[in-house]
Amino acid sequence: MSRVQLPDFPWDALVPYAERAAAHPDGIVDLSVGTPVDPTPEVVRRALAAAADAPGYPTTVGTPALREAAVQWLGRRAGAPGLDTDAVIPAIGSKELVAWLPTLLGLGAGDTVVFPELAYPTYDIGARLAGAEPVASDSVTALGPRRVGLIWLNSPANPHGRVLPAAHLAKVVDWARERGAIVASDECYLELGWDERPVSILDPAVNGGSLDGLLAVHSLSKRSNLAGYRAGFMAGDPALVRRVLEVRKHAGLMVPAPVQAAMVAALDDDEHVEEQRARYARRRDALRAALVEGGYRIDHSTAGLYLWATRDEPCWDTVGRLADLGILAAPGDFYGPAGGSHVRIALTATDERVDAAVKRLTA
Ligand SMILES: Cc1ncc(COP(=O)(O)O)c(C=O)c1O
Repeated sequence: MSRVQLPDFPWDALVPYAERAAAHPDGIVDLSVGTPVDPTPEVVRRALAAAADAPGYPTTVGTPALREAAVQWLGRRAGAPGLDTDAVIPAIGSKELVAWLPTLLGLGAGDTVVFPELAYPTYDIGARLAGAEPVASDSVTALGPRRVGLIWLNSPANPHGRVLPAAHLAKVVDWARERGAIVASDECYLELGWDERPVSILDPAVNGGSLDGLLAVHSLSKRSNLAGYRAGFMAGDPALVRRVLEVRKHAGLMVPAPVQAAMVAALDDDEHVEEQRARYARRRDALRAALVEGGYRIDHSTAGLYLWATRDEPCWDTVGRLADLGILAAPGDFYGPAGGSHVRIALTATDERVDAAVKRLTA
């Protein structure tokens, strides 16, 4: 068997810019990564602590309480009421699922895995780990006669915050069903709509009331400041969930029991999500206005955790320009060649750091 070819880790290229930004007398404002910085909600921490006595192995399929909490959440927040608990399985954060889903579904050589042209890099990695062919394409009609095993959607999207309307999602679902391809929808930013309301692939308005061939990937990292816990789940076609479950059981892909308990508390509570949304909304308004005043244009960015900003110049020039202000941004070409003239600005910095960035951008 040949070794899987993985790309170089691109973030190393950003190190000199991070050093330049860190030299600012008032310190660096790091807006390059989307890692939450606000506290994990008290209600979630208490649930984790209360479940700390866990001598036995957790089940791979998840506790009945967790599966029920996920089903309730999907009905309440994702427009997918009445799902069965058989449609749900927990994951050790959603990145793990993105990286391994093609393998868990049994895809491999001869299969194509399609993902957006501008995308979180792990979809490509997942295709390669499975030995499948990775194809970055926003157009299903451009795919030709390839045997497509899996199509990834991501709405709201990383890096550019675009929302795919229900009609677009439905078109992809129809296309995939006609060809027997599976659709996996990465919905980790679903509760972070600003100017548009994101729609889940599990919504009957998209799928006509059938989950056949569909999987949605969800994460608690962003909604609940839980990235450090590694907490995600997948929901959709029960037959596909069962297929994935069988492999996960053999592979030991179990979510730790205290984290499962914490996930129940997080999924049951919407109040902390609204509080967190208000924090991000304030930071987004402040950064957006400062960037526009500083000569940037913001494209897409109607939802999610990022502002997709440009000065219509090569993205590394913009990264350098911002580093001189002590601000670190992610170059758009990390996410695909189509991002070559944009930078991604994350909303995940403290109010104090965001205010510092605003002052520098508008000075
Ligand atoms: C599009 C997308 N999918 C998945 C993830 C992974 O999130 P997690 O593993 O924390 O659930 C991220 C993280 O930033 C992301 O941007």
